[in-house]
Amino acid sequence: MSGPNGARVSAPRTGSLTPGARALDLCFAPLASSEGFRVGFLGDSGSGKSYAARLAVEEYLRRSRGLVAVANSKGEAGWQGEAYASVEELRDRPNRTRRIVFTPPRGGDLDLHGIALWQWSAAHNHRCASLVVWDEVSDAADDGEWIDAERRGGKVIRGSSQIGRGFTHGRALGMSQLWGAQFAHQVPREAWETASCLCVWRQAGNALKILRFRGYTDAAAEAAILALPGDDVPKVDRGAFVLLRRGRPWDGRTYRF
Ligand SMILES: Nc1ncnc2c1ncn2[C@@H]1O[C@H](COP(=O)(O)OP(=O)(O)OP(=O)(O)O)[C@@H](O)[C@H]1O
Ligand SMILES: [Mg+2]
Repeated sequence: MSGPNGARVSAPRTGSLTPGARALDLCFAPLASSEGFRVGFLGDSGSGKSYAARLAVEEYLRRSRGLVAVANSKGEAGWQGEAYASVEELRDRPNRTRRIVFTPPRGGDLDLHGIALWQWSAAHNHRCASLVVWDEVSDAADDGEWIDAERRGGKVIRGSSQIGRGFTHGRALGMSQLWGAQFAHQVPREAWETASCLCVWRQAGNALKILRFRGYTDAAAEAAILALPGDDVPKVDRGAFVLLRRGRPWDGRTYRF
């Protein structure tokens, strides 16, 4: 199979892959000092972000005593946990386990702002650490701006979004954020600029420019991202990703769970 510029696209050989668990060691490092982490999962549709996020949830539950809430805004099956359609429903029927999955009601949307407020309340009122998995962070955003941000005179007031504040303010309170996105240009600035680790599955074109602009990549990392398998290979061959840390050189590895 040929990729851009005629380069051959194939699944990396198993022997050349680093176990995905090693990437999580870096992603979850702040938990060791009882801080929250911010991690981004970026990649083409079908490349393996949610698959990896499910494994990351399991690892979080092993390393932390906190709760996990999945903002399953796409309404996908496969997330383990107690199912709720809203934070109000969670208030009426409190969770019994540490796994909460918010899935939109039939024909409706999830109140993502409500989930951000729930996380603040858990941290402030109950001193409870938590991880929110924003499975598709662009569902919380409109062209790179949080949908709950305050607008005055057509201008977005920075820092006014409760979702965004969860990224910039909640670290010491044990508020962790894991965001997934298919399109780099949809990801709001707070999510980019607070992410200590970024796991990137296959991306091309504009996304690579944004990654370079945001200080995550160099030419070698870009070439590696372009060569990763996406939905152009069978499902069993997907899942390879690179780990990027802002302002740090690429480690030269390709990871996979
Ligand atoms: N590491 C892996 N090992 C085996 N299969 C994988 C792996 N990663 C992904 N897959 C397969 O690829 C499919 C698509 O992955 P996934 O749903 O995680 O994609 P995605 O990046 O979340 O896509 P979307 O952006 O559309 O939600 C999975 O259902 C699974 O079958
Ligand atoms: Mg997904």
